[in-house]
Amino acid sequence: MKRRKHLRPLSLLLCLVVVLALLLSTPPSSAQRGNDVERRVNALLARMTLAEKLGQLQQLDGEGNGNFRPEHLELVRKGLLGSTLGVRNGGQPNKLQRVAMEESRLKIPLLFGFDTIHGYRTIFPIPLAEAASWDPSLAERSSSIAAKESYAAGLRWTFAPMVDIARDPRWGRITEGAGEDPFLGAAFARARVRGFQGDDYSQPGKVLACAKHWVGYGAAEGGRDYNTTEMSEQTLRSIYFPPFKAAIDAGVGTFMSAFNALNGVPTSANHFTLTKVLRDEWKFDGFVVSDYTSVKELINHGYAANDKEAAWLALNAGVDMEMVSRLFNQHGAALLNEKKWTQATIDEAVRRVLRIKFRLGLFERPYVDESLEKTAHLTAESRTVAREIAGKSMVLLKNDRETLPLAKTVGSIAVIGPLADDNRSPLGWWSGDGKDEDTVTPLTGIRAKVSSQTKVTYAKGCDITGDSDAGFVEAVAAARSSDVAVVFVGESKDMAGEAASRVTLDLPGRQMDLVKEVARAGKPTIVVLINGRPPAIGWIVDNVPAILEAWMAGTESGNAIADILFGDVNPGGKLPVTFPRVTGQVPIYYNHLNTGRPPEANNRYTAKYFDAPWTPQFPFGFGLSYTQFKISNVAVSATQIRPDGTIRVTADVENTGKRAGDEVVQLYIRDVTATITRPVKELKGFQRVTLQPGAKRSLEFVLGPEHLGFYNRDMKFVVEPGEFRVMVGSNSQDVIEKTFEVR
Ligand code: BGC
Repeated sequence: MKRRKHLRPLSLLLCLVVVLALLLSTPPSSAQRGNDVERRVNALLARMTLAEKLGQLQQLDGEGNGNFRPEHLELVRKGLLGSTLGVRNGGQPNKLQRVAMEESRLKIPLLFGFDTIHGYRTIFPIPLAEAASWDPSLAERSSSIAAKESYAAGLRWTFAPMVDIARDPRWGRITEGAGEDPFLGAAFARARVRGFQGDDYSQPGKVLACAKHWVGYGAAEGGRDYNTTEMSEQTLRSIYFPPFKAAIDAGVGTFMSAFNALNGVPTSANHFTLTKVLRDEWKFDGFVVSDYTSVKELINHGYAANDKEAAWLALNAGVDMEMVSRLFNQHGAALLNEKKWTQATIDEAVRRVLRIKFRLGLFERPYVDESLEKTAHLTAESRTVAREIAGKSMVLLKNDRETLPLAKTVGSIAVIGPLADDNRSPLGWWSGDGKDEDTVTPLTGIRAKVSSQTKVTYAKGCDITGDSDAGFVEAVAAARSSDVAVVFVGESKDMAGEAASRVTLDLPGRQMDLVKEVARAGKPTIVVLINGRPPAIGWIVDNVPAILEAWMAGTESGNAIADILFGDVNPGGKLPVTFPRVTGQVPIYYNHLNTGRPPEANNRYTAKYFDAPWTPQFPFGFGLSYTQFKISNVAVSATQIRPDGTIRVTADVENTGKRAGDEVVQLYIRDVTATITRPVKELKGFQRVTLQPGAKRSLEFVLGPEHLGFYNRDMKFVVEPGEFRVMVGSNSQDVIEKTFEVR
């Protein structure tokens, strides 16, 4: 047997040094880091005065140009301000931060927030459009670039993603979310949170995300912004909650309470949603910021009698940070004295804010490198990504006789309409610091795409709104003298977004008349929609051979549209929201209940309309391609499963056409009989695949209790025995159905 050599003292020392170095270089585990954060939060909390604590719960907005307000300096110096909204660019955040870090007693860094929704300087398609890509990884990419650009402007927090489900397109903010479906909405919520925050939001180039607006805001009655919402807890949990829960699962650091009252209780003072669900059930340990002055608005709601009561109710319900109104600060001391607030409640709110500030690494790295602003904004690379995402977000709604794509060598083309050369509207609402002059308009995109011999004639035709048809003659002449006419119609930037509810989904102004006049010129006519919500465009659908839903697609709009019109990109987007025929059908959504009298064409006494069809213009999940796809061989792996079991669903998808293209294969289920009526269809899986001509692929989906279950009358999530239908198809209407049983 070999004898072990004794280690000499020098080797021993060396070993020790190596072990020590290893120990020191091993990054702390997340649990260690977590404990460390809690320890630091508590130590800091113990040193804070009441005024300093309330200061951490205050957020104030900056000036419109991104500068902080003069009064902020004094507030920060005294430790009376925790966060700002909109202070950005030009070293402004660093300047104010320096006051916090060098002149305030406790040197607690400020948190700089802003609404970076779908891009900061490089503007990506509106979120509704990105959801039409049915590819959440694209939203993750765009959010990650948006984070990088925001960070470069000195920001560390974005008030996004907006994950409100919207079933009523009259509501302008439908533009900011992922549409009507909770499953698709949850997928996009996760992706956006990951994109903004990454694995670790303390890293340079990442920002803290905020899931908003908690909750039910998208169900505003009549589609009128800020309006009341009424719904059962069952609907709340199964339709409106899932994207928020998905944001939490993805690690979102903050939530924003909403403006609306929910079943009589304003959501910025709603103990059920803010505490029972968010904290007790979901164990969320980040903080909640109120929406803009929504604490003060409790008075208008008729929920609080005065400012002091508003503060009292909001903090106790679970709002931690107050945006813009200052009632926590003005009345906190009195509320504590009167025992309406407890010290523990205040401390908990402050603890949540500080926890996030520590997790953000703000105490170690309070400043952002100002030179980034010059290099990180609107890079060639981010423009390339914006163009790709815009192309993948567009939806081909009609294409009779292969009107599209057009040849680049077309002899002449008339580019018509108020949105053909509009560089502002394609940026959409909440376009960060995006600049109109950076936008590629459709006219510019088309000119850059066609051959040098092609004659391009532009005619505006009319404005987006207004009564004048003075430009029609010129527009019709342009169409007549060209081989083909492309008409760009839709909405202006400020028509979709916050405070932009509309009573009609018709095209505004004289735009429909313009399309009619141009189509009458007799040339192949293509309509391109640039808009932020589903439009009602029945006449166009019936009379024009090709329609492209391009949405408000951001900085690279015009290039992406030209890519599609001329066939460099084959459209593959699908609608994330139902398109109605007429506004009066609203709310119309695919995952509705069946009723006792489902619509029947020949039976008057069924659930339909006297004066319009009950069916949508285009169903949820609809979208065409320049190629054709065939879905076949839909099969389930079992005829029976247990309530806790899983089942595999397989299907083949084949490109039967002549071009490479993308298909989004969608899987829906229906729980046929249950103790609470279930929707006629519910999306539970989707895959966007790219296939070469002739190529075929087998896809697999796995359904488990999380897909098959629902909240029953006792608000328990259960899978009930009985028959289930599984439907696989290219949209929510054209599906192949199989059944199985849960036993
Ligand atoms: C909106 C929020 C936004 C906030 C700050 C409010 O009016 O509802 O979505 O984050 O303003 O700009």
